[in-house]
Amino acid sequence: MSGVRIRRAELTDREAVIDGIGDVYWGLDYLPDLYTQFVTHPDFLSFVAVDGQEVIGFYSAHIHDGGLAVCKRAARVKKQHDGTGVLKLLTTHLEREVRQLTTVRRESMTCGSENAARISESYKQRKGLREVMRMQFLFWEVAVGTLPSVERSQSPNVAEMTSADLEALFAHEQSRKRIFPQDILSSFFVPFRCRPENMAHFINDRASCVASYRADDTTPGSDVTPHVKTVTSAGDVEKITLLSASFVYRARKGHSYNVTFFGTEYADLEAHLFYHVHKLQRFGHETVILSLVFLQEFAPLVLERTKTFLGQFGITRSQYPAIDHSIFFESDFGGQ
Ligand SMILES: CC(C)(COP(=O)(O)OP(=O)(O)OC[C@H]1O[C@@H](n2cnc3c(N)ncnc32)[C@H](O)[C@@H]1OP(=O)(O)O)[C@@H](O)C(=O)NCCC(=O)NCCS
Repeated sequence: MSGVRIRRAELTDREAVIDGIGDVYWGLDYLPDLYTQFVTHPDFLSFVAVDGQEVIGFYSAHIHDGGLAVCKRAARVKKQHDGTGVLKLLTTHLEREVRQLTTVRRESMTCGSENAARISESYKQRKGLREVMRMQFLFWEVAVGTLPSVERSQSPNVAEMTSADLEALFAHEQSRKRIFPQDILSSFFVPFRCRPENMAHFINDRASCVASYRADDTTPGSDVTPHVKTVTSAGDVEKITLLSASFVYRARKGHSYNVTFFGTEYADLEAHLFYHVHKLQRFGHETVILSLVFLQEFAPLVLERTKTFLGQFGITRSQYPAIDHSIFFESDFGGQ
């Protein structure tokens, strides 16, 4: 271990990180597509571990929540060096650099169930890591070319949100708490808080947010959500029943289309699925990996209904065992 040093990751390390360390998520790794962002965007501090000339590890700090939080992301260490303390070296260095920013008060990391089991109790205690939520992942392989045509009109009460809609939802406390009971709007393993500074992560070239709206004659919180013919007022956040945030990236296996659901009423689940299946048609003849992500407590309900719904389009489940669910941990930043 003594010869290993940590330095900032550069664009020129791309090949060594991506090809040298390899795809750590069974062909679904997001880092190949996002590497440039991870090493050039001012919100990211990314590091490599180097042994002699060889890059053997990578780790990144993503600063968010207006500088108040850091999410440690994309950890990976070359297989031959696994278990030799490389991640620990990267962590110490990363934390030292983040501390210099002085604004960061909270840290987080998210692990698949298999990795979470590798984190020792003593490490969790030392860091003060607490579990904040578990998200279930369901993967589906979609042969887009063979999909029957899905019209947008089949999900009439679902509408894409603008930044103004999302900001209005964040500002409306009662609705915000109903849709985000943990006050967390997660995207791809990052537990963003519902703050305006984070909106750009949810509405951009790769990402969008979609909401379903209840009819006028029901009250918020009611279990009954009739499907309405048109969206009466997209800005009326009290009528939002369920929100789904999508994020697209290119992985080795093909495009990955990730949808995370927020809310506790799932009456409009199928309307959202219609919308997303419709969106998938833009991928032409590709096979797309669709992943549906939601709070683990809804797993039995969502699994049955998505199976039935997606089954009618010939979409089959394709589970990756080591990422059946993700555990989000947080701690105060500064712990040892
Ligand atoms: C997970 C991985 C990065 C661990 O790297 P490593 O260099 O073998 O880890 P180390 O030898 O430094 O030991 C890990 C230490 O960090 C802790 N730890 C913190 N976060 C961890 C995590 N996400 N996974 C595993 N251990 C973690 C462990 O408890 C251990 O500390 P301890 O010895 O005090 O108990 C490596 O196995 C890997 O590249 N796996 C494939 C990619 C992957 O799954 N990334 C993780 C995403 S969460």
